Amino acid sequence: MLAAGFVFGLSNAERVSAQVPAAAPAAAPMQAAAKSSQRAYDAQAASSDPATPGLVQPIPFNHAIHATDFKIGCLYCHSDTDKARMAGVPSVEVCMGCHAQFGGDLGGVQALTKLWTDKQPVAWDQIYRLPEYVKFRHNRHVAFGVTCQRCHGPVETMDKVQLTKDTIWWPWLLPSTKPQMGWCIDCHRLNQVSQDCLTCHY
Ligand code: HEC
Ligand code: HEC
Ligand code: HEC
Ligand code: HEC
Ligand code: HEC
Repeated sequence: MLAAGFVFGLSNAERVSAQVPAAAPAAAPMQAAAKSSQRAYDAQAASSDPATPGLVQPIPFNHAIHATDFKIGCLYCHSDTDKARMAGVPSVEVCMGCHAQFGGDLGGVQALTKLWTDKQPVAWDQIYRLPEYVKFRHNRHVAFGVTCQRCHGPVETMDKVQLTKDTIWWPWLLPSTKPQMGWCIDCHRLNQVSQDCLTCHY
């Protein structure tokens, strides 16, 4: 088994199961307030501010408030990550599962509701993208126990998702400009995973 060579402890399956939400987050405390919290306004301002590192998205979506303050699991929104090649970004329907009930005073939620009424998707700009000639499968990594943060950094603290220098582990363990071949191969080598060209190329 690979576990013996696992220098970085990626085989810890508990960390991943901890990310899988058992059920939809409890909506009750979220619905309680008719007006959104000051924190929600601040989070929205931070994610729409061009000065915050990262792209200004069509809707100012803030991971810190959703994933940390309200503890919504990554897989609640990125629900294909453990099943498919692509992690996928949640549909407007997933957002409206909560925001049909609250948040209507927030500009971002109003923009979202307009898209919902018009049956339009959100035109999110993608941040991580590999060239077509590379094979990558989220599910293989997630099933193995590689956490999202090992590749994407501490997204749950971010006002905007951005490629970031590693602050938790080692600088070479996170891609800070784009996901490069050397980054994939380093982790594969350290963990005794295949480094054959055809593992990652067609
Ligand atoms: C499980 C429930 C839930 C889901 C799903 C959800 N949200 Fe939220 N959202 C919240 C809560 C709770 C707040 C904070 C409300 C408060 O503090 O008053 C919030 C705040 C916001 C805000 C203001 C802060 C910010 O992030 O800029 C926006 C905009 C927003 N949500 C957009 C979205 C979008 C877009 C989606 C879908 C991708 C989504 N939400 C999915 C619960 C949810
Ligand atoms: C409430 C829904 C929601 C939750 C919970 C959530 N995300 Fe997201 N995520 C989104 C949306 C919407 C986008 C696209 C907008 C953006 O980039 O912020 C996104 C984008 C991303 C991206 C960038 C995708 C790209 O364009 O390359 C990553 C990486 C990501 N999320 C990781 C995570 C991780 C890790 C967690 C858990 C800590 C998480 N997300 C929790 C809704 C969510
Ligand atoms: C082994 C590294 C790795 C792990 C672990 C990982 N990702 Fe990714 N992620 C990537 C790469 C590389 C891309 C770009 C994929 C592409 O362009 O085909 C990406 C893309 C994404 C995207 C953009 C949409 C897409 O599917 O291309 C989202 C959202 C995302 N990841 C969320 C997550 C979440 C949530 C987790 C944890 C449950 C996670 N990722 C775990 C490396 C990783
Ligand atoms: C943080 C460590 C890590 C990073 C970074 C990483 N991988 Fe992996 N990768 C793994 C592990 C561990 C496995 C083994 C999973 C298994 O055995 O099921 C794996 C398996 C794979 C597989 C399946 C191998 C097979 O034998 O079928 C492919 C394809 C792959 N990775 C591609 C990539 C690409 C492309 C990148 C960079 C964009 C990447 N990986 C980045 C750890 C990583
Ligand atoms: C673990 C996954 C992985 C393995 C193994 C791998 N590659 Fe790559 N390779 C990538 C990724 C990811 C990219 C895209 C990097 C980027 O966008 O900069 C890439 C890019 C490339 C490119 C284009 C480079 C450029 O600058 O345009 C070539 C050529 C290439 N790989 C050849 C190889 C050869 C030859 C092997 C075997 C010796 C190999 N790769 C093994 C992941 C891998």
